[in-house]
Amino acid sequence: MDAQSAVYGIIGYPVAHSLSPLMHNIAFKELGVDAVYKLFPLKENELDGFFARLHESSSPIFGLNVTVPYKERVLKYLGNITPLAQKIMAVNTIVITKERKLIGYNTDAPAFLSHLVELQFNTREKKIAILGAGGSARAILAVLCMIPERPDSIKIYNRTPQRLDHLLEDLSARIDTSIVQPVASIDDLDIPEADLLINTTSVGLKPEDPSLVDVDLIHRKLLVYDLIYNPPMTPLLKTARAGGARVANGLGMLYYQGVLAFQRWANVLLDDDIKLKMRQALEKGAN
Ligand SMILES: NC(=O)c1ccc[n+]([C@@H]2O[C@H](COP(=O)([O-])OP(=O)(O)OC[C@H]3O[C@@H](n4cnc5c(N)ncnc54)[C@H](OP(=O)(O)O)[C@@H]3O)[C@@H](O)[C@H]2O)c1
Repeated sequence: MDAQSAVYGIIGYPVAHSLSPLMHNIAFKELGVDAVYKLFPLKENELDGFFARLHESSSPIFGLNVTVPYKERVLKYLGNITPLAQKIMAVNTIVITKERKLIGYNTDAPAFLSHLVELQFNTREKKIAILGAGGSARAILAVLCMIPERPDSIKIYNRTPQRLDHLLEDLSARIDTSIVQPVASIDDLDIPEADLLINTTSVGLKPEDPSLVDVDLIHRKLLVYDLIYNPPMTPLLKTARAGGARVANGLGMLYYQGVLAFQRWANVLLDDDIKLKMRQALEKGAN
């Protein structure tokens, strides 16, 4: 890296744990692009100043990822937001043009779908259960309601019911959420009847975290998808595997959103060889 290098990065708080630099920096290197991907841990009171500086012609920053807790909060700084991001009302990728215009994308939602395709899981007429109603649930719930391969039903539970109510009220202003049913307890998710269980909560990040779901509810036809990728096997995934279910962690989703983001920033379609190196870098970093 030198003074001329273009800068990309991730904003959030905290961001130290992010694996994104691993995949983006290897892609820049492979493409021979003079650019570097950095971590930007930003406190809330630093956001205004950070975004104001992005508009300066001397700024070396041309692209950003956005993570917890700012995916909704960054909307107000953006000149343009794609139709999908407008429906979800959350942005995790920002492109900064040469004219210093900021364009917001949501690449989390299509990334989740791409990973489901890779897992050969078709959502059409399936029964889906979701744990959590935070920022990542917003993208996943919205996209599951919008795809042509419409699920039969989506039951969703959150520890704080008011947050779930607010999420559904907000999404239903723009999206047909008629297949979604908020439930008051994990038992009401009807996991024994479900085809797909998605954990969007942060429970499982810490080694001492419990599995939110009891092994008795798990069955062999279930796919259990945990958005957490570090640790690769969360207590929920261990429980699911013990109960005979198929399991997947969120590393695939992280990878697909990163590929989509990189392709927007660099305006290229990455070839399979580079994409493989990006994925391998992530897998190495997660273990
Ligand atoms: N794989 C990927 O690419 C990807 C992308 C995005 C996020 N993620 C992961 O997804 C997880 C959630 O991210 P987020 O952005 O949705 O976070 P968030 O907006 O902070 O939401 C956190 C969610 O976890 C719930 N929760 C937290 N502690 C809980 C507990 N002890 N018991 C029950 N529920 C609890 C919260 O419920 P309350 O409302 O009751 O607090 C809320 O529903 C993180 O681990 C993140 O790393 C992965």
